[in-house]
Amino acid sequence: MAEQSKSTNPVLSSPNKLKLGVFGVNVSGGCSMTSVPSTIKAEWEESVNIAQAADRAGIEAMIPVARWRGMGGEVNFNHRNFDPFTWAAGLAAVTEHIGIFSTFHIPTVHPVRAAKEVATIDHISGGRFCLNVVAGWNEREIAMFGTPQLEHDERYDVAEDWITLCKELWTREGEFDYDGPYFKSPGAYSEPKPVQRPGPVLMSAGNSPRGQHFAAKHADLNFVVAQTIESAGEIAAEVKRMAREDYHRDIQVFGQAYIVCRDTEAEARAFHNHYVNEKGDWQGVRNLLDVLIPNSESALGDGWEAMASNLIAGYGALPLIGTADQVVEGMQAFSDAGIDGITLSWVDYASGLAHFEKELLPRMIEAGLREK
Ligand SMILES: Cc1cc2nc3c(=O)[nH]c(=O)nc-3n(C[C@H](O)[C@H](O)[C@H](O)COP(=O)(O)O)c2cc1C
Repeated sequence: MAEQSKSTNPVLSSPNKLKLGVFGVNVSGGCSMTSVPSTIKAEWEESVNIAQAADRAGIEAMIPVARWRGMGGEVNFNHRNFDPFTWAAGLAAVTEHIGIFSTFHIPTVHPVRAAKEVATIDHISGGRFCLNVVAGWNEREIAMFGTPQLEHDERYDVAEDWITLCKELWTREGEFDYDGPYFKSPGAYSEPKPVQRPGPVLMSAGNSPRGQHFAAKHADLNFVVAQTIESAGEIAAEVKRMAREDYHRDIQVFGQAYIVCRDTEAEARAFHNHYVNEKGDWQGVRNLLDVLIPNSESALGDGWEAMASNLIAGYGALPLIGTADQVVEGMQAFSDAGIDGITLSWVDYASGLAHFEKELLPRMIEAGLREK
């Protein structure tokens, strides 16, 4: 496979003003902590069908969630979860244009192994692979590996050493010795190199000041977690400034949205109320927040109830609820706020994507947010 610059990866090269990624298809429940029956089952055929539908619709990315256990409660949200690496390799082989992400929890894998898995999927995908680096906030998951959870900012120090060794393995010819603060690799060697040079598109969704610095220094893509589209825009501008001024590089910033779209706003709100208030897994979200609040500096909000409701509805994403016109107005607001792209999720992804292609995409084209 001929080398290509990472700037040709669809996630970076897409001409669309507002790029799109489908988030959370590899985990049971997807992004909705609810017992309504149409949520993600985490079955292979389901993942393939959704990825191929997203590919056909011109969406730029499939982004999985790296998860090791569920949240307990009624539905044990996300307890079935396909390993995002082998999942990405499989999807890379059955899609044509879409960018395929995978996600590593840094404490769970040595960079020598990680760099090779990344290079392999980059070859399978023909240079469409993207890596999400997660420092690891979920201490119950990290505990499964028998290792203690490090203090928040030190987790990013480890991630920095980890990605530095990966980058060297992706770019240096022949053998070299690596001696970092956390990782040692005598006689480090990795072939083949990734198709994308100097390496794959990198994402980091860190939201704390330390996490944002990590992203600004190393990643091509950061994600904002915010309470409003306007504040997401302000955070995005700050991360872009940080990347430019402190690290002399450009970074794109994406937001997250979940869609509940119906013929009328009242119908959309009624379904939202049904799956969140009537069928939401309130015990599960309690368990999630017990871990999230002390471990993630992103877990701020307007109080417990609002945060819990938002996690049930869309795993912390911002709502796009209403008619097709209203949903596209919300997308326009993300773009106007300076956000380069958003992830999308639905309670029912298959019907959501079909509706996206028929109703939302033409309106996005009309609004100048998408080219086709
Ligand atoms: C779009 C997006 C995807 C994420 N994917 C994962 C994931 O797959 N697994 C995970 O444990 N954390 C995931 N995270 C959590 C972040 O990597 C990060 O830990 C969190 O935003 C807290 O950031 P902070 O440590 O800088 O406060 C994701 C966050 C966002 C916004």
